[in-house]
Amino acid sequence: MTLVYLNGEYLSAESAKISPFDRGFLFGDGVYEVIPVFGGKPFRLAEHLDRLDYSLSQIGMTNPLEREQWQDIFFRLGADVATPDQSIYLQITRGAPLQRDHRFPENSAPTVFVYAKPIASPSLQPQAGIACITAPDWRWQRCDIKSTSLLGSVLPSEEAARANAREAILIRDGMAFEGASSNVFAVIDGVLRTAPKNRYLLGGITRDVVVELLAQHPDIAFSEAAFTAVELRSASEIWISSSTREILPVTLLDGQPVGNGEVGEVYKRVWALYVAFRQSL
Ligand code: PDD
Repeated sequence: MTLVYLNGEYLSAESAKISPFDRGFLFGDGVYEVIPVFGGKPFRLAEHLDRLDYSLSQIGMTNPLEREQWQDIFFRLGADVATPDQSIYLQITRGAPLQRDHRFPENSAPTVFVYAKPIASPSLQPQAGIACITAPDWRWQRCDIKSTSLLGSVLPSEEAARANAREAILIRDGMAFEGASSNVFAVIDGVLRTAPKNRYLLGGITRDVVVELLAQHPDIAFSEAAFTAVELRSASEIWISSSTREILPVTLLDGQPVGNGEVGEVYKRVWALYVAFRQSL
């Protein structure tokens, strides 16, 4: 039985119910976070909750819970999961007034849903190379909000899966800003690059960890500079990053080998820095 938190109650997943008028259900009018837990400790918790506050502020909502309350919920749900390595999903919607109206409801309590699930123990070894495809990015212009309106990620993710690939790298006006559910790094002409934060990508927490580590290791040539799809295809290394996948090297893009088709040396170095950081917490 999976235990979930819904609007102040702890319930079995089977018995948790929301209204059909919930604005998350009707409009995708809500925001979410995915927080990894390694060895029983939420990874970068403050940063995830800061991003939650940002997403809420951008859709005209305020956080209904205090940080201590979030921590209590994560602790209670986490204790119910058999493994110390977990993924926490939380979602807040603009509530469930008893009618469908695009405008914000006047008096409607938000819907708050949280659950935790086990994940595989995080690896110490460099990850194996994965295949990715590219796909057009026809999402909206506020990808900096972690919104539950996710068709723009769902459809390319399915397209990738059908092509036996793990992720779709999205192309907007010739630029490769991010993946369907990940940030993207590429080594182009010897320089590691990732797009600076803007409204066309989600400011990934994993991305930020990598950027912080790179700032401490200036011997690795790095620039926060966006790249085109053409540059992406010329890259000697490509990686994707996210809370659930950490950092994964891409060795096949649209069926073509990336660089020499092997996991790259820059990846191995940064992976080692990242693992050391993760283990130090
Ligand atoms: N997705 N970009 C997009 C569009 C994402 O959906 C995600 C994460 C990221 C990486 O962000 P972070 O490092 O904070 O996880 C970038 C989550 C994991 C998801 O939707 O399940």
